Amino acid sequence: MNDAVLSPPPIGHAGGPKVLLEVFGCQMNKLDAELMVSALKRAGYDFTDRDEEAAAVLLVTCAIRDQAEHRVHSHLGELSVLKRSHPDLALGVLGCQAQRQGQELLSRWPALDFVAGTRDFPKVARMLDEVRADRTRLIALEGDPETVSEERDVTVRPHRGRAFVNVMRGCDKRCTYCVVPNTRGVEVSRPMADVIAEIDQLVDDGVVEVTLLGQTVNAWGRREDRSLGELLHRLEELPGLHRVRFITSHPEEMDDRLVDAMAACRKSGLFLHLPPQSGSDSVLRRMARGYTVERYDEILVSLRERIPGIEIGADIIVGFPGETDEDFEGTRRLMERSRFSQAYVFRYSPRPGTPAFGRMDDDVPDAVKRERLAALNALQNRLMLERHRGLIGSRHEVLVEGASRKDPRRLFGRNLAFDRLVFEGDPDVEGRFIEVEVTDVTALTLSGHAVSEVRSAPASPAPAAV
Ligand code: SAH
Ligand code: SF4
Ligand code: F3S
Repeated sequence: MNDAVLSPPPIGHAGGPKVLLEVFGCQMNKLDAELMVSALKRAGYDFTDRDEEAAAVLLVTCAIRDQAEHRVHSHLGELSVLKRSHPDLALGVLGCQAQRQGQELLSRWPALDFVAGTRDFPKVARMLDEVRADRTRLIALEGDPETVSEERDVTVRPHRGRAFVNVMRGCDKRCTYCVVPNTRGVEVSRPMADVIAEIDQLVDDGVVEVTLLGQTVNAWGRREDRSLGELLHRLEELPGLHRVRFITSHPEEMDDRLVDAMAACRKSGLFLHLPPQSGSDSVLRRMARGYTVERYDEILVSLRERIPGIEIGADIIVGFPGETDEDFEGTRRLMERSRFSQAYVFRYSPRPGTPAFGRMDDDVPDAVKRERLAALNALQNRLMLERHRGLIGSRHEVLVEGASRKDPRRLFGRNLAFDRLVFEGDPDVEGRFIEVEVTDVTALTLSGHAVSEVRSAPASPAPAAV
């Protein structure tokens, strides 16, 4: 079993044919998978995390880097072998790689029964029925971005106190390295009323923290002349909801209205994921990111002035075409002075269909990309360890997410700045807020012990797990 398998599996329709869902990629895929679980359950399917007992294996895939797609191909190789001894097994590939490689996947893998793109997941239950009944092969890549159904059974979700909510789909930027505009299509924001109605239902069902999802979430609503700040203000007034996160923000779309709203709204917390991607103006220009290093620095200064204690998260790409030692040094310096509380560093991976592909030579040798990646990771670890050491003895209001993965006898949760905390405490407090005192730290985690409960989530039955 690999880490992408949903385990424990969602609770489905008892006695129905069992589906094994494997979800790769970002939170958008995780949420699409949740929406699919609702639909499959309604259609009479149950779920499993064991491929030997599965009637269908569905892979919800990512296309962001070459490696992500390779993993799926090698997994399809294994599943093709499994299908020889289980000829009734139905296989489907969904999500971003499906959108990108559609027909090619069907041609390359005769064992594959169907492919559905990023806007076609509402059809998946029907496609699976058809494939199982008629043994036909199906492909759906045509979903209309304006009318993707967000229909959802709010009780079907993996976490008791937390939920993701789509506020926009697609992306209208054209960062030259990025495949997302091709796989997820044009930007469409959901109307305010729909978003609020969904969050209302989630809160009634016990959710205390929502994470609003969008590729450029801080540009939400601009076509309707609305702003994410307005949505934050509305959610601030919603009783029972305690935390509002939103990912991912784009530096070009940061404006004072949003910073004002974040400063005024207690629930939106002390964390902003704001990827700089590079600390070199010439690289940023070739990436078509639409801002300079100076502008990025200014945004961080203004955020930190207006919202004391705010922490910033980053994504960085090393080895973009033409990245010189000097460009890289710019990125290293940006990282050093920005003091991100978390940072994901990636090696540039050329993606077919992106503006850079074929036009900008992937000329940074892999060994250099690896060296740059290792150097930034080492720097970031040092910075995180320094920051964490300064937090020893401090107390934090932590939303308990469940047992710690590494040490199931301890609990795991996050504070308002999205730091990871592991601590001793009563195991029955998932979805509640606990005050934790930090006693020990590593670069990645703060550890400590529970001091007291801060407040409870509203009483409600535990939702069916996804
Ligand atoms: N919409 C978000 C990012 C989505 S993709 C944003 O604009 O920030 C998540 C991250 O993957 C990106 O921030 C980028 O750092 C990385 N990424 C995207 N395409 C990549 C590629 N071709 N090679 C390496 N990393 C890439
Ligand atoms: Fe990709 Fe850029 Fe859109 Fe983010 S903003 S999804 S990096 S094109
Ligand atoms: Fe997400 Fe990967 Fe698609 S990062 S949007 S699942 S390409």
